[in-house]
Amino acid sequence: MTPSILLLPGDGIGPEVMREVRRVLDWFARTRGLEFHVDEDLVGGVAIDTHGVPLTDAALAKAQAADAVLLGAVGGPKWAELPFENQPERGLLRLRKDLGLFANLRPALVFDALVEASSLKPELVRGLDLMIVRELTGGVYFGEPRGITELANGERRGVNTQVYDTHEIVRIGRVAFELARKRHHKLCSVEKANVMESGVLWREEITKLKADYADVELSHMYADNCAMQLVRQPKQFDVVVTDNLFGDLLSDCAAMLTGSLGMLPSASLGDADAEGRRKALYEPVHGSAPDIAGKGLANPLAMILSVAMMLRYSFDEPEEAELLEKAVQRVLATGKRTRDLAGAGTTEVSTAEMGEALIYELSSSQ
Ligand code: IPM
Ligand code: MG
Repeated sequence: MTPSILLLPGDGIGPEVMREVRRVLDWFARTRGLEFHVDEDLVGGVAIDTHGVPLTDAALAKAQAADAVLLGAVGGPKWAELPFENQPERGLLRLRKDLGLFANLRPALVFDALVEASSLKPELVRGLDLMIVRELTGGVYFGEPRGITELANGERRGVNTQVYDTHEIVRIGRVAFELARKRHHKLCSVEKANVMESGVLWREEITKLKADYADVELSHMYADNCAMQLVRQPKQFDVVVTDNLFGDLLSDCAAMLTGSLGMLPSASLGDADAEGRRKALYEPVHGSAPDIAGKGLANPLAMILSVAMMLRYSFDEPEEAELLEKAVQRVLATGKRTRDLAGAGTTEVSTAEMGEALIYELSSSQ
């Protein structure tokens, strides 16, 4: 059966980077015989404008049924004043939660051609290749009680709850250990066990899991120290596993080591079913960048690298994934850059020109 993909371009630069994904998917269908059923729907602000909600039940049902979902980005100032429950981000959070996408894989990879783009010294980042595994459906993002309440003294109180049950820690821990096993056999688990009980439990459960992964070296680090170590000596890390909120912060930090958020893909995976298939959503780490939306300035490579992750994790096509990743490397080696990375000695190109250049590199690799 032909596998199915749902495209959710979303807001801001989402639609323009997704246009380049269409081009890439067409190329794989034409040239490599890799056919997908491709459907498209709305998420985020554009869904609010059209349907009054950031994600319709129908779009959610399509996402449930698809073999993989590709998402652009959501949000923007236009919707910032809406009630919290109606904001574009709720669409994304509902997708993550309802699809059970608890494991968020965020690689930070420094391409040789971009070593100079990092704000850190080249020797600190050259060859950097780390993976942040962020828990995505628990913790303070979803914990109850939550909300804003009125107090008797006339003040208001904002409440969110950091909560993790054993099974949530164990399943994300296993994903991280397995990944470390396929990489450099090093796992660093990150929490604040010095302050938070949820962190104490996290550390205990991850430590217990280690018994099943004798070949993986496990270390523990407090989240604040991890933030510091990421900018001090990022190459000490292989795989980092952490909770939802720390993962949000640390993955932005790790992303910036590579020079641009415009280069980083991510995968969000659910539990494997009986046939070993996982629900999966792939999206760039960058946001909707409303300031540059519609101007052809956006870097489509993070979105395109998300397609590579999809080929690898959802469709078990590591060779096709590599083809795409190599084409990205080659296109960068030609000196072509979108605005986010353009500088001395490079040629600035538009979003669509970058897409074209990538297709050219893909084709010439045949
Ligand atoms: C991310 C984003 C989201 C998050 C927002 C848009 C809700 O920052 O994917 O990292 O906080 O998870
Ligand atoms: Mg974030």
